[in-house]
Amino acid sequence: MGRLCLLVMMLVLLNGYCCLGCWKQERIALLQIKVDINFPNGTSLRRWVDNETANCCDWKEIECSVDTGRVIQISLNETRDWSLGDWYFNASLFLPFKELRTLHLSGNSLVGWVENEGFERLSMLMNLQVVDLSYNNFNISILSRLLRLPSLKYLSLQSNNLEGSTHFNSSERLSRLNNLEVLDLSLNNLNGSILSFLSLSNLEILHLSYNWSDNSTLSFAGGLSSLKSLDLSANKIKGTVDMRELDALTNLEVLDLSSNEIDSLVTPKDTKILKKLKVLRLRGLKKISRNLLQSLGAFSSLKTLNLGLNTFEGTITAEGMIPKSLSLMTSLVLLDVSSNNLTGMLPRWLGNMTYLLGIVMSKNHLQGSIPTQFCKLDILEFVDLSENNLSGSIPSCLNRSRITHVYLNKNRLEGPLTRAFYNNSSLVTLDLSHNNLTDTIPKWIGSLSALSILLLKGNQFKGRIPIQLCHLNRLSIMDFSHNNLFGPIPHCLGKINMGSTTGQSNAMWSIGESYIGGGYLVSYMESTSLIGLHSSSLMILNEDPLSEVQLQVEFTTKRNSLLYNGSILNYMSGIDLSCNQLAGEIPLELGNLSDIRALNLSHNNLTGTIPVTLSKLKQVESLDLSYNNLNGRIPTQLIELNALAVFSVAHNNLSGALPERKAQFGTFEETSYEGNPLLCGPPLHKSCTKNRATSPMRNVSNGEVEEDGFVDMDAFYITFVVSYIIVLLGIAIVLYINPYWRQAWFYFIEVYITSR
Ligand SMILES: *[C@@H]1O[C@H](CO)[C@@H](O)[C@H](O)[C@H]1NC(C)=O
Ligand SMILES: *[C@@H]1O[C@H](CO)[C@@H](O)[C@H](O)[C@H]1NC(C)=O
Ligand SMILES: *[C@@H]1O[C@H](CO)[C@@H](O)[C@H](O)[C@H]1NC(C)=O
Ligand SMILES: *[C@@H]1O[C@H](CO)[C@@H](O)[C@H](O)[C@H]1NC(C)=O
Ligand SMILES: *[C@@H]1O[C@H](CO)[C@@H](O)[C@H](O)[C@H]1NC(C)=O
Ligand SMILES: *[C@@H]1O[C@H](CO)[C@@H](O)[C@H](O)[C@H]1NC(C)=O
Ligand SMILES: *[C@@H]1O[C@H](CO)[C@@H](O)[C@H](O)[C@H]1NC(C)=O
Ligand SMILES: *[C@@H]1O[C@H](CO)[C@@H](O)[C@H](O)[C@H]1NC(C)=O
Ligand SMILES: *[C@@H]1O[C@H](CO)[C@@H](O)[C@H](O)[C@H]1NC(C)=O
Ligand SMILES: *[C@@H]1O[C@H](CO)[C@@H](O)[C@H](O)[C@H]1NC(C)=O
Ligand SMILES: *[C@@H]1O[C@H](CO)[C@@H](O)[C@H](O)[C@H]1NC(C)=O
Ligand SMILES: *[C@@H]1O[C@H](CO)[C@@H](O)[C@H](O)[C@H]1NC(C)=O
Repeated sequence: MGRLCLLVMMLVLLNGYCCLGCWKQERIALLQIKVDINFPNGTSLRRWVDNETANCCDWKEIECSVDTGRVIQISLNETRDWSLGDWYFNASLFLPFKELRTLHLSGNSLVGWVENEGFERLSMLMNLQVVDLSYNNFNISILSRLLRLPSLKYLSLQSNNLEGSTHFNSSERLSRLNNLEVLDLSLNNLNGSILSFLSLSNLEILHLSYNWSDNSTLSFAGGLSSLKSLDLSANKIKGTVDMRELDALTNLEVLDLSSNEIDSLVTPKDTKILKKLKVLRLRGLKKISRNLLQSLGAFSSLKTLNLGLNTFEGTITAEGMIPKSLSLMTSLVLLDVSSNNLTGMLPRWLGNMTYLLGIVMSKNHLQGSIPTQFCKLDILEFVDLSENNLSGSIPSCLNRSRITHVYLNKNRLEGPLTRAFYNNSSLVTLDLSHNNLTDTIPKWIGSLSALSILLLKGNQFKGRIPIQLCHLNRLSIMDFSHNNLFGPIPHCLGKINMGSTTGQSNAMWSIGESYIGGGYLVSYMESTSLIGLHSSSLMILNEDPLSEVQLQVEFTTKRNSLLYNGSILNYMSGIDLSCNQLAGEIPLELGNLSDIRALNLSHNNLTGTIPVTLSKLKQVESLDLSYNNLNGRIPTQLIELNALAVFSVAHNNLSGALPERKAQFGTFEETSYEGNPLLCGPPLHKSCTKNRATSPMRNVSNGEVEEDGFVDMDAFYITFVVSYIIVLLGIAIVLYINPYWRQAWFYFIEVYITSR
């Protein structure tokens, strides 16, 4: 009873609160902002109406405090119509929002301000912590204005018109922003010694990418003692960089110098910063010279960095081989040389790089066989050699390894799978599609207990689908299409859960032991195909380097071959057995694959009827049974498949009326059904009435409950008349034989008649 009272009271309170609406002075201020942002004749924010009962907390751009009902967030990104021209900021308009914490005004053509007095009082906005003024046209003097915000923690002035460094000659004033933690000044025209003027003792993250900084950028004052992450990428930093210049940044952990014109880093023994640094990004350098990263005593914690980096010298020319010098980088953990038009054989010295966790060499012209030296790479987890010209067989020694993701697709690998991955319980992804592999799909496939993605498409596998496959209860994507498989579809396939891979991804990346004294040395050779040059980069990461590689598989659904990666990959689940010679009936048990999104059994030799159980595939988006020898009717229950977007039963021997044209089935056209002469009803041009008269081969052996169609009505009438006669006869016989019932019956009739 007490609880009920409480509930009622809460409802009353909530109700009372909700109808109070927002604070009047805040609503009025918001409406003034609307007028301002639309000046002179814009039409944005139509839903903000001037109306006593309007609750401004309901406006989607506004968020109010649950406790006080006051505005805490105003999000007006890209609200002002660009064609209205410049907008001048009237700081006074924001003063009524005493509890404002977040202000987004990105992309509004802001250029300046109209009133200094408003700025003086900005210090009244005690709670304002996040200000996004990116993609406007402010000049550098905005900074001194914003100094007045006492609680500011995050400030973005990305892509404005901040030019030059002279206005930064006010380190004292800037230091008043002593709560600032994140400052984004990227995409401006800053230059000169900006950093030496910054003195922000709590700043942790500073973005300065895409400015026109020269190498004097790197002289820092001691004013950034908390800085952890500094992004100086895509500036015009040239020549030699002396890392000692960064020594004042005593807490720096992440430094990004990518896409500059640096050709060497000088790091004398006493360079302090390298001992702290955990991530050094040097991606996309056009050229790495002999001297880059020379003398690198400070990196000694990384075991070996006195490597043959000098041999990265110059650009790696297109059509070249994998440089031998890489073999000296024995502590490398991730080698990525994909898309580089590399030729030649896979080097045997790879087997000596025992720290390798990942090898990515896809999209080159590499030839020859996969060297057995690969098997020496005990901790290797990720191998992508796809889209090359590799031949020979797959080495049969990868069974004991910790290998987790294998992409060997689109090569010319041949021969049987023998025992290549036999009993490997870490393998999650195996993509062998588009090769020339032969013989049967081995029974040991059932021993790959972690396998989630199995792609064998486009090979020459023959024989039956092994029932051991059904042990793979983590399988989510299986593609055996375009092979020579025959025999039946195993009934037990329905037992595989075929769920999505969600929840498994974390387990994929446990690498613990491979962590090398403080960081990972990662190498990339990326192609910048626009200019035909290849760039190299080295990174030192303390994160899992494999988080830099992309898990990606190609799978055909809804008739499109798509690349799935990231979270979309986790969501995908499907079976493709198309283009084989599979025979027999479609197992009823396939209806148990309730999480499956794509099922393709087309271009086989399947017979029998379409099981009604397929109507249980509630997630299925694509169902293709075309080009088989299926007969009987299309189960009407299939219209329950609400996710179905692509459906085809074309080119079979199906007969009878099509499912009603409702739900998803209202969207399927003639092509979904063509090549079945005995099918009738819309969208086919053949109507079922005609069909009734002409079709001698009516197939009603399905045993389904039919709900529609003229053929059913026939059956219904006949059955009805027959049953009617039987019942009448039955009553007559009973009344005739049994005198007691006869009496009772007449009594009943009499009572019935008199009561009326
Ligand atoms: C605003 O006024 C200008 C000129 O008076 C006109 O060209 C423009 O179409 C108007 N814009 C709107 C959104 O009414
Ligand atoms: C005030 O706005 C509400 C919806 O926001 C609307 O239902 C109501 O009719 C408006 N009242 C007046 C007087 O315009
Ligand atoms: C725009 O507003 C959203 C919040 O509504 C914010 O997360 C985002 O960072 C803003 N800025 C830009 C440039 O999109
Ligand atoms: C700025 O806003 C304040 C408060 O709404 C207003 O009084 C003042 O006139 C505005 N200034 C300009 C130049 O529009
Ligand atoms: C910066 O913008 C303000 C406001 O528009 C203007 O008064 C000032 O002259 C500008 N300063 C520079 C250096 O362009
Ligand atoms: C920095 O920019 C200012 C103004 O754009 C310019 O006058 C100055 O020469 C630049 N300095 C350097 C070192 O490029
Ligand atoms: C700041 O500017 C003044 C003159 O504008 C100059 O005298 C002073 O040396 C500058 N300070 C620094 C640190 O550059
Ligand atoms: C800055 O770059 C120039 C070449 O543009 C070079 O001569 C100079 O030594 C560099 N300065 C530093 C400190 O590295
Ligand atoms: C691999 O290392 C061994 C022992 O350190 C060495 O003898 C061998 O030459 C190396 N192999 C290659 C291909 O560099
Ligand atoms: C595949 O292997 C067969 C023999 O096993 C051969 O005849 C055929 O040319 C190979 N196909 C390709 C594309 O290499
Ligand atoms: C690779 O070679 C092809 C032609 O052989 C060329 O079109 C392409 O640009 C090259 N790619 C790179 C990254 O050099
Ligand atoms: C398909 O199955 C039928 C009957 O089972 C058989 O006669 C026919 O040869 C098979 N066709 C193919 C291509 O395997």
